[in-house]
Amino acid sequence: MRQFLRRSLAACAALACLALPATAQQFPSRTITVIVPFAAGGPTDTVARLTAEAMGRDLGQTVVVENAGGAGGTIGAQRVAQARPDGYTLLLHHIGMSTAPTLYRRLAYDPVGGFETIGLITEVPMTLVAKKDFPATTLQEAVALIRRERDRLNYANAGIGAASHLCGLLLMKAVDAQMTTVPFRGTGPAMQELLSGRIDLMCDQTTNTTEQINSGAIRVFAVTTPQRVEALPNVPTSAEGGLADFQVTVWHGLYVPKGTPAEVTQRLSRALQVALRDPRLVQRFAELGTAPVPQAQATPEAHRSFWQADIAKWRPIIQAAGQYAD
Ligand code: MLT
Repeated sequence: MRQFLRRSLAACAALACLALPATAQQFPSRTITVIVPFAAGGPTDTVARLTAEAMGRDLGQTVVVENAGGAGGTIGAQRVAQARPDGYTLLLHHIGMSTAPTLYRRLAYDPVGGFETIGLITEVPMTLVAKKDFPATTLQEAVALIRRERDRLNYANAGIGAASHLCGLLLMKAVDAQMTTVPFRGTGPAMQELLSGRIDLMCDQTTNTTEQINSGAIRVFAVTTPQRVEALPNVPTSAEGGLADFQVTVWHGLYVPKGTPAEVTQRLSRALQVALRDPRLVQRFAELGTAPVPQAQATPEAHRSFWQADIAKWRPIIQAAGQYAD
């Protein structure tokens, strides 16, 4: 009897471990969800919807986007860190993953160890923009106005640690003047306030500003990259405008919860690589002032090492500013 029990237990164990790789090998067998930690309609949402659609074509499953904005992106990140590690819940986030580990000291999840990396996606230039009737037309005039008006001007961002927050920090440091900051759950809703004229200034990604700039709905003073952006040929660089130190771009990457099987992360990484070669995605990224990263960067290893180097770059900057989120 004891021998029979021992044998059947061994058989069950063998079956169980046989089952695990089978599910990873059958991945994906149902809809996948990508969590975007900012409001719908903003730059991260735009990158996520284009990437999800293209990845879904390769994976043969629907990839839906769900927005969970707030707290500079940490609410959405927590959702994924605490999700089931089976590859069906992903996080698409940006430079905020490099700043949160230093800015937030009391998070309910591990902002680095809580995730597996899938690959980098794109690196988006930023633009300094203003409401249509803002009384300045060049970067020099805008800087002079900021220095004169200071906190009488309001500046929108998507919360502490967001790209629009970091860009604002760099701008206000470069011009040595503080404006009044107005936080939103994302720069999607902030753009509506800029278009309505209730917000004066914002620094946001070209994926959210290019079409508004080219339609004349908002004013623009500079792009924050060393070279001009093809989709915005008439917009000078910050260096051309006299603010050479005011440079920042927003990298984006894909993550799954810690403990997701390696076969699943590899499958997702392959689908991401295919998506970044998809002509429809490449075309739309170009129209919005950006481009996919080189294929070699769309891997878990390259993403992890880039991310760790970026955390190390931002830590002393944040510590020197002494501005923590909690
Ligand atoms: C967004 O998608 O709303 C932005 O990425 C927010 C930000 O980081 O500025």
